[in-house]
Amino acid sequence: MSGRHLVLVGLMGAGKTSVGQRCARLLDRSFVDTDELVVATTGMTVNELFASGGESRFRELERTAVADACASPEPLVIACGGGAVLDPENRSRLRTAGLVVWLQAPPDVLGARVSDDTRRPLLRNAGAATLERLAVLRAPAYEDAADVTVDTAGRSIEDVADLVIERWSAAQRSEP
Ligand code: S3P
Repeated sequence: MSGRHLVLVGLMGAGKTSVGQRCARLLDRSFVDTDELVVATTGMTVNELFASGGESRFRELERTAVADACASPEPLVIACGGGAVLDPENRSRLRTAGLVVWLQAPPDVLGARVSDDTRRPLLRNAGAATLERLAVLRAPAYEDAADVTVDTAGRSIEDVADLVIERWSAAQRSEP
């Protein structure tokens, strides 16, 4: 880890936003969510962006959001949309930007967390099945992006945030 940010990655339902907000409070940092950046810069929801420009347009905007967040001179806690790590440019940018933590949970746990969510276009109609498929397809990208992994299954947001901060502190101590 050479950069300054704390970066959270993982599938939808992993808890990146809630855990990230708590970590930001504990570390006294600002919190940035790449989805929120995209929504703020376009004035459109993620659903509207997928519907109007397709996933590819959303991914372009997401790449810009990742680059903008990473470029912040202020050390941040950054939560990335679940698919941001699919882009090799994003992965290398995030790895350079700081400690990348992969929040993990089995697909059935993720599915239960997002079961009544209508804001995620990729989960329309088939949330659990989609998460099973994405877990397999995306595992190599998360592995490549992440410095450390935290298992979130059966843990509260508070416990996961504490674990993330522990890993963060350990990584800081091992810096040359
Ligand atoms: C996506 C995850 C979402 C959002 C978009 C696509 C994905 O973010 O970026 O709906 O491809 O996994 P969250 O992981 O914050 O839900």
